[in-house]
Amino acid sequence: MKTKTATTLAHPNIALAKYWGKREYGHNLPAVPSLSVTLAGMTTATTVTFDEALSADVLILGGQEASAHATSRVSVMLDRIRARSGVKEKARVVSANDFPTASGLASSASAFAALAVAASTAAGLHLSLEDMSNLARMTSVSAARSVLGGFVELRAGWPGDEKLAAQQVAPAEHWPIRIVVAVVSEGPKAVGSTEGMAHTARTSPYFPAWVERAPGVYARVKQAILDRDIEALGVAAEESAFAMHATSLAATPGLIYWTGTTLEVLAEVRRLRAVGLSAYATIDAGPHVKVICAAEDEAEVTKFIGAVPGVKRTIVTRPGPGARVFTVEEDRAQADSMASDSISTAYTTLDIDSEDFETESAKR
Ligand code: DP6
Repeated sequence: MKTKTATTLAHPNIALAKYWGKREYGHNLPAVPSLSVTLAGMTTATTVTFDEALSADVLILGGQEASAHATSRVSVMLDRIRARSGVKEKARVVSANDFPTASGLASSASAFAALAVAASTAAGLHLSLEDMSNLARMTSVSAARSVLGGFVELRAGWPGDEKLAAQQVAPAEHWPIRIVVAVVSEGPKAVGSTEGMAHTARTSPYFPAWVERAPGVYARVKQAILDRDIEALGVAAEESAFAMHATSLAATPGLIYWTGTTLEVLAEVRRLRAVGLSAYATIDAGPHVKVICAAEDEAEVTKFIGAVPGVKRTIVTRPGPGARVFTVEEDRAQADSMASDSISTAYTTLDIDSEDFETESAKR
């Protein structure tokens, strides 16, 4: 039987200038501009297969059938793609991460970037990067940024911005900084980002101050990246992360994403700075600390951060490519095994490689 299939690889991103809070206008528009780096070193592999034998969309995450809630979020994006392409079939989505899922390691960003690219390709749509980023953003704002590689920005949305896509600020090769991820727990986080930021916007007296100050911090982060100035970047990125957590702590009830180990890692980061290493921290909606450092400090930073009691492991990442397609119209069994058994499978049927993506985005 003929099926329509595509497989994508995508990477999470870490926001150096954070997005936290949506416009009340709707359409999943961010209230503040954000700027992230797409991370080679952590990967999501997703295969989408539209199949007339299916009576409902099916989502397999890490080898197991996903919850109804996760599946319905996927179906919303698939419905948009079906409406646009005329494809009627339901889809089987098989996705696997090589890093902890839903724990503040930005798995929704790589998941929905991979899904937008795989599903639109499988459906035969030839979308621009901008269109794919916008499609991903409609489901999860941070996912808009993982469609692109390197250093990526997403401006704040305004009423009338039904379409809003991320843009590349600089390709991965612009600046080979390292982000050392200190994994503090492997379990899912208590309050997801979507819910956490809505609660913060609703109840935190500091939320208006966050929205007012965020554009200035974002501008400093962007300038530091363009100047390849690690100190300016680190200071501004820490400010953004701490302000995001401060506004959340002041919500009612307060949102505490950190654990004791998170604070121990933050103390170690400051100690490393005091002895002359470039080490700066950023934290998303979870307990893990991501340490930004210069390439030459990677080994020492990783050694000391990994030795902090409570740190389970470290993952060393660096700027990497955007989401990319590996198979189109392939046999379904092959595509499924590619997504489920091993992310490092040697893919041979390369259709679009990351360079195409970089080139296309640089042209825009
Ligand atoms: C703390 O993009 O996961 O990681 O748009 O509701 O899906 P939704 O939220 P999401 O939030 C990410 C928040 C963050 C900061 C960031 O990535 O900019």
